[in-house]
Amino acid sequence: MFASEILSAGMYVPPGVVTNHDLSKLMDTTDEWITQRSGIKERRWVAPEVTTSDLALKAAEEAIQKAGIAKEEIDLIVFATLSPDHEFPGTGVFLQHKLGLAGCASLDIRQACSGFLYGLSVADQFIKTGMYKTVLLVGAEIHSKGMDKTTRGRDVAVLFGDGAGAVVLRRTDVNNPSRILSTHLHAEGAHAQELWVQAPGMNLGGDRMTMAMIEEGMQYPKMNGKKVFTHAIRRMAEVLHEGLAQNNMKLDDIDLFLFHQANLRINEMVAQELKIPAEKVFNTIQKYGNTTAATIPIGMTEAVRAGQLKKGMMVASAAFGSGFTWASAIYRW
Ligand code: UT7
Repeated sequence: MFASEILSAGMYVPPGVVTNHDLSKLMDTTDEWITQRSGIKERRWVAPEVTTSDLALKAAEEAIQKAGIAKEEIDLIVFATLSPDHEFPGTGVFLQHKLGLAGCASLDIRQACSGFLYGLSVADQFIKTGMYKTVLLVGAEIHSKGMDKTTRGRDVAVLFGDGAGAVVLRRTDVNNPSRILSTHLHAEGAHAQELWVQAPGMNLGGDRMTMAMIEEGMQYPKMNGKKVFTHAIRRMAEVLHEGLAQNNMKLDDIDLFLFHQANLRINEMVAQELKIPAEKVFNTIQKYGNTTAATIPIGMTEAVRAGQLKKGMMVASAAFGSGFTWASAIYRW
């Protein structure tokens, strides 16, 4: 029997810092509103010529270098994103080519904010069955090119940022303490329209994209913020408990909580509900906003750099997002 070990994490955010004050020049918003509601102070936006696989490449290179593996050892690339380079094929193949690789398998994951944890679970299953030994898992997003950056889109536009994170997973023995203990995945499609991009699509009565749809703004993300907020708190707490129960653990057994970064208030309320001390929750949203599939590997990388995530620590991650989808993972670093 095999298990998966997370060997390393890497990240990349573009240099362009956009503060709340900068946004207030583009739309009717204020630093006070954004800070109070979300905890976000700034985020990164890419330059026009930069694409999602470019961000992913830099994060992947750091993860590969830190893992101490040769990139040719990668058997599978799992690429989680909702902001792909192109409609098809998936962005994993563009990353593969930029890495100078050919032949290894590549698979994209579309579970938005839960994408990294869904990807972690997929990678873990491939390793556990013995099919693959080394997997590169990337979460990367460019939101700045896809949002309505006017007052019409302000509820969404202030929350999201660009960035990428990556991990290298490697086959290990089930007795290795450093391994993924369990992953837990859920979805409830009844709420799919509460946070989505409607167009382009095949369910729009005719052509997948028309000028009329563009004029209506159907290409931009739309969100029922209050509904997402309340479901996120409930489901993240629930799926964390599910992970702990499966491993006969208590909350006290977890050394560090690396949650998805959608809103600082969501993570504070989850921590409050579960009575997790604030110092055990590592947040990065203040600097980067919500980078969707990239938030958790960015958190891993920064927590290691800050000395707050060390070898042997027990970690719990949870995420919630579009779909609705939600997930958790319990792993020893
Ligand atoms: O990973 C999943 C991704 N998404 C999330 O997790 C988001 C979860 N939801 C949230 O974080 C919160 O619901 C928001 C931060 C998005 C919004 O907070 P809220 O307390 O639910 O505000 P609201 O939507 O009820 O809006 C309150 C007011 C409205 O004005 P009126 O109708 O009361 O006059 C909005 O038009 O705030 C207005 N508003 C803004 N004002 C300034 C909405 N966006 C903005 C803005 N700046 N950016």
